[in-house]
Amino acid sequence: MLARDRIIVGLEVGTSKVCAVVGEMLEDGNLMIIGVGQAASDGVRKGEIVNMEAAMRNIQSAVAAAEDSAGVEIHNVYASVSGGHISSFSNRGSVVVTNDDSAIGEEEVRNVMLNAKSVSIPVDHVVVHAIRQHFFVDGHDGIQNPVGMVGSRLEVDVHVIHGVRNRLMNTIKCIKQVPLDVANIAVSSFASALAVLTAEHQQLGAVVIDMGGGTTDYIVYREGTVQHSGVIAVGGDHITNDIAVGLKIPMNRAEQLKIEHGNTLVSERSEEIALKREVGMPERTVSKQQLCRIINLRVEEMLMLIRQELEKQNLLDYLGAGVFITGGCARLRGMEALAYQVFGGLPIHVGPGENNKSGGGLAGRPSDISGPTAAIESPEFSTAIGLARYALYSQRDQHQPPTVWQRAGQKFQQLVAKVRMFM
Ligand SMILES: Nc1ncnc2c1ncn2[C@@H]1O[C@H](COP(=O)(O)OP(=O)(O)O)[C@@H](O)[C@H]1O
Ligand SMILES: [Mg+2]
Repeated sequence: MLARDRIIVGLEVGTSKVCAVVGEMLEDGNLMIIGVGQAASDGVRKGEIVNMEAAMRNIQSAVAAAEDSAGVEIHNVYASVSGGHISSFSNRGSVVVTNDDSAIGEEEVRNVMLNAKSVSIPVDHVVVHAIRQHFFVDGHDGIQNPVGMVGSRLEVDVHVIHGVRNRLMNTIKCIKQVPLDVANIAVSSFASALAVLTAEHQQLGAVVIDMGGGTTDYIVYREGTVQHSGVIAVGGDHITNDIAVGLKIPMNRAEQLKIEHGNTLVSERSEEIALKREVGMPERTVSKQQLCRIINLRVEEMLMLIRQELEKQNLLDYLGAGVFITGGCARLRGMEALAYQVFGGLPIHVGPGENNKSGGGLAGRPSDISGPTAAIESPEFSTAIGLARYALYSQRDQHQPPTVWQRAGQKFQQLVAKVRMFM
């Protein structure tokens, strides 16, 4: 039996599936995936729990499967959150250094972080992440750690991700009813980025787009830190719905067609796909071109929305490492070529997965994550794998004095604890 404190679990309660990834923290500080459990998700719409009872049962099944697969008991998880209510902005905090010798210490750093976070978010919202970007000392930019420096004014830029408290709490409450403890939460885009980007990608600049069933979660890194993030409440289910409506077929057939014959690119050649007879539906054929046109329109629209947002934020020119597409929809054929068109020639990485035969860059996993190919190569596991990596970092640092960033995390924990008292 593995020592309990070496086991970490990432849990994504997604719109299409609930997925638990069990990781083991290795002696060398790396993460090895030792088990994965999945269950279909039927209590979630557009990334948010709408049926607690159903979601709880799905979590139980996924966790039981993960326990079997890893041969461990699961008591505690890191969970992801998503949904259209999650939004973000960047903010600058500022403090005057009042020490006699103008030396900047931990206290000033703590205060400036608090100041940066004390922004007005809607009253029903809470901060999920306050991610440090850069410090400024007396207006000098790009300082990574100001402790020990001399200055009279300390500033910091942070990326604040916030969401509606009650909706976030629904996820935590649901997991607690399983019953499991929630060690911490992270937004899905942040978790997925941890599963597909290396430190080098983050430094060069990259956008991670996680296209799931009901949401598309994205996050932008530049110069090693998070610059922007967002959630679009549109995902693969909308593609399926478009197919069902466009071809006048039931949703389950549309989903099957999408997976078996779908392509985000429309071929010149016309081809008919035979649909077998089924209750309420006679035998018939559908045009593959029409199917792919429907998919193309929706996926292009989703990618365009993100492109426009990045343009608005003036970030498109800073994506040296390019665009990383993950989540279940990364398995759609032709994704890489379409993304290449939309993002005007930026490097495109799709996956990780073996389904992408379009001849270009597959996104990998960072090298400190290992495990069975089935887990490592599945794009729909990115969020849960990233959560396990998030857990690894949190636990690895537990024996070190807490950093500003961790203290920010602990603040959230306190908040979670406070809210829990009312549950
Ligand atoms: N082989 C495939 N081809 C096309 N789409 C796929 C494929 N496999 C999964 N998907 C789509 O991916 C979406 C689910 O992605 P996933 O990341 O698991 O979602 P979530 O995290 O929201 O539960 C669904 O819309 C599903 O149809
Ligand atoms: Mg997802």
